[in-house]
Amino acid sequence: MGRFTRASALAAVVLSSITSTIASSPSIPTCGPGSPCPASAPCCSQYGQCGAGAYCLGGCDPLFSHDFSACVPAAVCKTEDYKLTSLDDVQAIDQYLGDYSSTNWVSSGQPTKYSSGQDQGILLTMAQDTVGTLLQSTHYVWYGKVSATLRTSQGAGVVTAFILMSDCKDEIDFEFIGVDINHAQSNFYSQGVTNYNNELNLTVSGDTVSEDHTYTVDWQPDKLTWIVDGKPMRTLNRADTWNATANRFDYPQTPSKIMLSLWPAGLPSDGEGTIAWSGGQIEWNSPYMSDGYYYALVKEVDVQCYDPPPEAQVSGSKSYVYTDASGTNNTIKIVDDVVVLKSLLASGDNPNFDPNASSSSSSQSTGSSSSGSSGSSGSSGSGSGSSSGSDSGSSSGSSSGSDGFDQGSGSSGSGSSGASGTLKGKEGRVVGGSALAVIVALGAMLIL
Ligand SMILES: *[C@@H]1O[C@H](CO)[C@@H](O)[C@H](O)[C@H]1NC(C)=O
Ligand SMILES: *[C@@H]1O[C@H](CO)[C@@H](O)[C@H](O)[C@H]1NC(C)=O
Ligand SMILES: *[C@@H]1O[C@H](CO)[C@@H](O)[C@H](O)[C@H]1NC(C)=O
Ligand SMILES: *[C@@H]1O[C@H](CO)[C@@H](O)[C@H](O)[C@H]1NC(C)=O
Repeated sequence: MGRFTRASALAAVVLSSITSTIASSPSIPTCGPGSPCPASAPCCSQYGQCGAGAYCLGGCDPLFSHDFSACVPAAVCKTEDYKLTSLDDVQAIDQYLGDYSSTNWVSSGQPTKYSSGQDQGILLTMAQDTVGTLLQSTHYVWYGKVSATLRTSQGAGVVTAFILMSDCKDEIDFEFIGVDINHAQSNFYSQGVTNYNNELNLTVSGDTVSEDHTYTVDWQPDKLTWIVDGKPMRTLNRADTWNATANRFDYPQTPSKIMLSLWPAGLPSDGEGTIAWSGGQIEWNSPYMSDGYYYALVKEVDVQCYDPPPEAQVSGSKSYVYTDASGTNNTIKIVDDVVVLKSLLASGDNPNFDPNASSSSSSQSTGSSSSGSSGSSGSSGSGSGSSSGSDSGSSSGSSSGSDGFDQGSGSSGSGSSGASGTLKGKEGRVVGGSALAVIVALGAMLIL
């Protein structure tokens, strides 16, 4: 099953559920090969929608954005061992403006602190009618050894994932389908091209649900190894991935974020292939749920950065940028640019744009604020990214059926973000279009 196919399918579902919820939704410009984003909504999100703000940060596809500078430069790799014992270092993705010096992780959905004896970690939760939870690094990795220690969820249609994904959709995966708790599915993609032969099941001793296991991606310029509990299980050599048609190695070679997620592949609205792959439709009264949600427990993520490849263009040390539409390793440049957006309607092209600031750069492209250009301004929620302290109570996180994503309407407690209860209703409505776009993006981002 190609991830891209699955992704698009669910993005469409999310979109239609929102569209029916909010009348008169603006049309969201889409982007992809041959159709880059317009200047008014310059950033192409991971799932093909144009916008600003959050769209220009993690996942912004430089190849289909308005220009290479629309996407905010990606923070370079940082070697660190993250013990995920609290949400202090996690910010809601729709509030993050790019200041990676103060935040190492961003989230959508409802991450929840978990603590029970020896077991400390962050729960990725998925309550009924939500699209689950995503935890994503603000720093990218451009070759490195990344390990995640986790326990997966369980049940038909429920997928736990630990992946590396680049902005032009190179991807390295560990995925865990909830009906097979004895294997990890390893996979990789090059620039999002679906290839049905790349998947390989790796046997995990014991099971993935009730015991901690450490899953490692050892990503080097010439070879990639999937490792389980310290034992190498699969190696991919770059030399074996030459694609004469594309005239490049179909080998992950661009800076990638770390993503941990729990997402629904078994919704009735998903494609048949997706549902079958994930073991069938999700049951929402399953014994595998607790407190109203499915959950996976992530305890630790250890990142060891490798040096950039010899052919890398290096003129700085802070961020990665793309210099060419081919999206190959030799077109990535390491520079010193750091861009923190002034508002959720700003972009890499216009980072100081802030409709709220009377003086500043108000002359520039004010039009973008009305173009449905995303921005996620509906998300003024100040919530600390969710109920900390316990694993209780997120079942309320997603009230009603099709309203699951309707954060922008200000109905308290709805939506997949734990912080959404603090939305200001009126403003949410005013910027409905923006909130809408963001929610689509957030929903879509979960669908790896
Ligand atoms: C991996 O295992 C799943 C179920 O456990 C199976 O459906 C799938 O075909 C397997 N994939 C491969 C490539 O063997
Ligand atoms: C980087 O790109 C160049 C040019 O396409 C290629 O020759 C080289 O093998 C690539 N190296 C890696 C590590 O992918
Ligand atoms: C080679 O690249 C082309 C163009 O991107 C793609 O359509 C094709 O599926 C690739 N081949 C394989 C075996 O992945
Ligand atoms: C403008 O200010 C309001 C109130 O502080 C805030 O909620 C909103 O997100 C801001 N708009 C943008 C585009 O940042």
